[in-house]
Amino acid sequence: EQSRQIVQTLAEFLLTKEQLLEVKNRMKTEIQNGLSKATHETATVKMLPTFVCSTPDGTENGDFLALDLGGTNFRVLLVKIRSGKRRSVEMHNKIYAIPIEVMQGTGEELFDHIVHCISDFLDYMGMKNTRLPLGFTFSFPCKQTSLDAGILLTWTKGFKATDCEGEDVVGLLREGIKRREEFDLDVVAVVNDTVGTMMTCAYEEPTCEVGLIAGTGSNACYMEEMRNIEMVDGDTGRMCVNMEWGAFGDNGCLDDIRTQYDVAVDELSLNAGKQRYEKMCSGMYLGEIVRNILIDLTKRGFLFRGQISETLKTRGIFETKFLSQIESDRLALLQVRSILQHLGLDSTCDDSIIVKEVCGTVSRRAAQICGAGMAAVVDKIRENRGLDHLDITVGVDGTLYKLHPHFSRIMHQTVMELAPKCDVNFLLSEDGSGKGAALITAVGCRIRQQEQ
Ligand code: BG6
Ligand code: GLC
Repeated sequence: EQSRQIVQTLAEFLLTKEQLLEVKNRMKTEIQNGLSKATHETATVKMLPTFVCSTPDGTENGDFLALDLGGTNFRVLLVKIRSGKRRSVEMHNKIYAIPIEVMQGTGEELFDHIVHCISDFLDYMGMKNTRLPLGFTFSFPCKQTSLDAGILLTWTKGFKATDCEGEDVVGLLREGIKRREEFDLDVVAVVNDTVGTMMTCAYEEPTCEVGLIAGTGSNACYMEEMRNIEMVDGDTGRMCVNMEWGAFGDNGCLDDIRTQYDVAVDELSLNAGKQRYEKMCSGMYLGEIVRNILIDLTKRGFLFRGQISETLKTRGIFETKFLSQIESDRLALLQVRSILQHLGLDSTCDDSIIVKEVCGTVSRRAAQICGAGMAAVVDKIRENRGLDHLDITVGVDGTLYKLHPHFSRIMHQTVMELAPKCDVNFLLSEDGSGKGAALITAVGCRIRQQEQ
């Protein structure tokens, strides 16, 4: 009886192929809403123009600084790109912590901290006196009017610094640099991490025209036809669009597949009611869904001898790396128990079986709905080009994709099933999105020189 009830609880997370096709089709509708003049204002999937109109061609050249803010790590990078026959990219980088008080303090504190880290990096590299062009990977939704201007629409994930929403983040960075009065930089481009990832991968593989992040957050970008981007003038060529697909479902269109646990995770988050799809499929939230299910099963007496420990009440205990360990097939149950022990959860052998089952169910659904979203994107590109068959490469990054033992496989398989007319090659980004941001900065510098 107990195991029947557990199975029943988890059954809500099992989606049929029909349901997944439905998710794909709804994503297609939201893509259309985001692109059209008539509907984009209220669209949930924002389809933001990036002013990146081509992928790299090997002629990019020069030394650039890059910032990479918004994922697990904040980095400052020096990227040296050489063009021509012996084209190459050399990177130096340093990781800096962003304390939670800074992520959720004032905007001025956040940007002062960022500039402080740049200053430290320049000292470390011995480059304080060179005025380098900089590409700013800023992994949040920004409304761009050019390559070097981006108004933050809303914070997502764990950030909540005041006085930033509605402001141009390039302006905030420039002001921070001015306040410090120590060095000067030329901010050339603001870049979403999906776009940086696509560019990083496209430098090696020219068929890469889509970027995907399955990490702390979830998002995608792709090369859309200019004629379809109604908010930008011009009808020829293509422009990369930052979809901001994490907000898919914010108008209620996924309510039929959301469970009570998804609702609980959303309500307890920093941004209730927002980024509902992201909260079902990205690293920052999967562990929270698991925790909410475990609390419920414990309350009903099926787990941990019915005792809800303080640990289980703690938000954020199940980070992506722990879920990944628990679900690893190479791990014996005893090791699952020791991970739980390490997290402060006293489990029996039966408990550990149930916990593993819960984790597997939640991450499988995440991979499937992420795949359904990606199926909508590649099919849209195929239709744009009037093709019966499309071969395409997707550049991917993110801790969930990289660390989890099953996520990538299930996601790939779902795309194959839901977009049978597309052959999708997933290319793992090895160098992060900072490299892509530097490539975009290189092109931005060249265009600026041509205009002068
Ligand atoms: C990194 C990129 O490799 O992947 C970041 O350089 C990006 O910019 C990140 O945000 C996404 O992964 P995560 O898991 O760190 O959010
Ligand atoms: C969040 C951000 C988005 C970013 C994604 C992955 O969804 O809003 O801009 O691309 O996380 O980091």
